[in-house]
Amino acid sequence: MVDSPQAVILAAGKGTRMKSNLPKVLHQVGGKALLQHVIDSAVEATAVRPLVIANPEHVAVRALARDQADVVEQATALGTGDAVRQVPEAQRSRGPVLVLCGDVPLLRPDTLRRLLDHHQKSQATCTVLVVEPDHPRGLGRIVRDNGGKFTAIVEERDLTPEQCGLRECNSGVYIFNGAQLWPALDRITTNNAQGEYYLTDVVALMEGTVATVTLADSEEALGISDRCDLAEAEAILRARTLQALMESGVTIEDPLTTYVDSTVVVGQDTVLRPMTSLRGHTVLGPNCTVGPMAQLRDVRAGEGAVIGSSHLEECTLGDRVTIGHYNRIRPGTTLGAEVSLGTHAELKNSTVGHGTQIAHFSCVLDSDIGTDVNIGAGTVTCNFDGEGKHRTVIGDGVFVGSDATFIAPVQVAAGAYIAAGSLIDADVPEGALGIARSRQRNIGGWVEKRRQQATTR
Ligand code: UD1
Repeated sequence: MVDSPQAVILAAGKGTRMKSNLPKVLHQVGGKALLQHVIDSAVEATAVRPLVIANPEHVAVRALARDQADVVEQATALGTGDAVRQVPEAQRSRGPVLVLCGDVPLLRPDTLRRLLDHHQKSQATCTVLVVEPDHPRGLGRIVRDNGGKFTAIVEERDLTPEQCGLRECNSGVYIFNGAQLWPALDRITTNNAQGEYYLTDVVALMEGTVATVTLADSEEALGISDRCDLAEAEAILRARTLQALMESGVTIEDPLTTYVDSTVVVGQDTVLRPMTSLRGHTVLGPNCTVGPMAQLRDVRAGEGAVIGSSHLEECTLGDRVTIGHYNRIRPGTTLGAEVSLGTHAELKNSTVGHGTQIAHFSCVLDSDIGTDVNIGAGTVTCNFDGEGKHRTVIGDGVFVGSDATFIAPVQVAAGAYIAAGSLIDADVPEGALGIARSRQRNIGGWVEKRRQQATTR
């Protein structure tokens, strides 16, 4: 029986070239931290909880990793070899050990599975994933003897002039046989240009054969060193995500201006119109139309939703909801099926029942609105009294005329009417008309009188 592979993810490096207060592996591409991409791929490929080697000062790295991985600390970043050496005795597998870097986020689980497969079939002591990029800046090079047999990995800074032309590079992904890896780690030294314990030296020190597998798409092994790499990875991942969506039956009218995180799910026959961005854990049902210029983050929408040029965050939309242009829906809002929203409305922390219509220029905050309600244009629910937030509750079937203002806390019972222009600061009972506005007075001849006063001045 083959032992389950154990993944070790190296994430304790300083990442100085990012010039950031945030640990490098927490920077995001495609809506997820670099480290999260690597953990997800490792878990998918090995089905075993990985080990993450982290810097003890990076509390947020530990917080991100600990749900899915065991975290081991490397007190000082003395090199990749020293990082692997931190794996405690009790967690040192004698079977295959898959080593990954927390700053190489684009590797597909399938690639890792194929590498594991190759390692097992080839009976090698170590299998190195090799890339041949157009510009191998900063990567270690694979050195072979005249017969083509692997002899060593030499870091760029340690290359001799003759080795500078070598095309094969180390991706930083390896599978080692644990039984040979752990003892070999005790034999590496810091005798190199960077004065570090190189994991790459272990490869040459291990007894047995070293196999190499060349990655056809070298982009997958892109390591992030600085913000330029980050932008490159973002573009690659975005293209990959859009392609997968189109292949699954989503129409993307203009892929060049459409931004979709790798974490987003979009149903079949949904149309994404130009300049739209879908971020975070957004899930859209089938047959929706979104955009142009819609911005959604962490939105769940049912089937057939139509969303115009609006900005939505952390909200849930039922089936066939219609949202016009220039609306803002803020966190904690749930719209029932077939709710429709006009233009320039803002909603926050509110529930809106099935079939309700909210017209333009309304501001619905901390409110519970029933089914089949009409909210006229310019309605405002005043939720804040300077100290605390209060709710407005409007029952099923209520008709609210334009320009009504509700001073929360206040409740309007089902079926009531609210006269346009009313300022409602007391509850309205079922079936009643709530009207709170001063009576109109027309002053006859006023205009003529004013004109005469102006000419005699
Ligand atoms: C490493 C390889 C290089 C390979 C490249 C691919 C070595 C010596 N070199 O170089 O051959 O081409 O990856 O990307 O391994 N880390 C720790 N602790 C440390 C040092 C690093 O956890 O003490 C982690 C980093 O956080 C990073 C990973 O190891 O995730 C790689 O480290 P880095 O210093 O970036 O190695 P490279 O110079 O890229």
